[in-house]
Amino acid sequence: MRYLSGIQPTGRLHLGNYFGMIRPAVELQAKGEAYYFLADYHALTGASEPGQLEGLVRETFLDLLACGVDPERAVVFRQSAVPEVHELAWYLSTVTPMGLLERCHSYKDKVAKGISPSHGLFAYPVLMAADILLYDADRVPVGQDQKQHLEVARDIAGKFNDRYGQVFKLPESIIREDAGVVPGVDGQKMSKSYGNTLEIFAEEKDLRKKIMGIKTDSTPVEAPKAVEGSTLWGLVRLMGTEAERAEYRALMEKGGTGYGDLKKGLADLVLREFDGMRKKREELAADAKRVETWMKNGAAKARKTAEQVLARVRAAVGTQK
Ligand code: ADP
Ligand code: TRP
Repeated sequence: MRYLSGIQPTGRLHLGNYFGMIRPAVELQAKGEAYYFLADYHALTGASEPGQLEGLVRETFLDLLACGVDPERAVVFRQSAVPEVHELAWYLSTVTPMGLLERCHSYKDKVAKGISPSHGLFAYPVLMAADILLYDADRVPVGQDQKQHLEVARDIAGKFNDRYGQVFKLPESIIREDAGVVPGVDGQKMSKSYGNTLEIFAEEKDLRKKIMGIKTDSTPVEAPKAVEGSTLWGLVRLMGTEAERAEYRALMEKGGTGYGDLKKGLADLVLREFDGMRKKREELAADAKRVETWMKNGAAKARKTAEQVLARVRAAVGTQK
């Protein structure tokens, strides 16, 4: 079984990324072959400033490793280490119906948020399909918001196979229902683009400050607090032991504990949950050489697999071998 996933190097990792994608990816690397990459080509469709990408790739690479992605077990690389992905993306784009891309929520949402509707943004799901198909991935662990992109990748693979024969296996998504959509400090989906994130590797005092700023309702201290649908519970449910979660829930339901204390409890949980990773990140950051070697090795392995798959594709379409 081959697992593959990608994340855009567009900023510091947050709890949504961790619970939605990274934690499942870490669990899966023990169960089969894993390919995890930093989608730096995809990141160019966003709003980042020129000159920042290189640094963001490095930072995100460290973040992933600190979170438990193991470069000795998984093939970890940056997307642009394997530029052959564009060749495959082109073949795929020639079998991709416009309507399929026009229906993509992510494209429509991003345009609605003011990102300029470039061709790159529109064609984003085709490149994503190429990312997956270039490595013969069986399963793709992603957060819920990527579900449609996975369906598009399957559709594109199917169209290609209809035309050229059974070249690709159809990848399946793995969406962890338990993580669902992780809420941000304002109660909306946690996302870099909403500025409502809790960053795993932020300074302790900043992280605490942000948690204390979580938007809550005006239920008085003595009264029971709404649990389901609340941001506090939406985060607590993902962390700690079962007993700790039950205790937290009981505190909310019983009343008598104010939001300030509940938030402090959440902050303690978050810091404990990520303590080991925060320390590991500092160690990794001090060892640039080792990190460099891992990046290089990952890239070489990824490229080897990609070349094999691409040879099969070229033979099917009839381009230069
Ligand atoms: P952002 O929305 O902050 O830009 P990305 O789009 O880069 O995050 O997401 C990277 C990965 O993390 C994807 O697999 C995505 O599904 C997952 N993810 C991001 N935010 C959340 C969230 N709030 N809840 C669950 N998963 C999330
Ligand atoms: N689109 C994904 C995101 O924004 C990142 C990504 C790019 C990806 N290529 C992929 C995820 C291939 C899984 C498989 O989060």
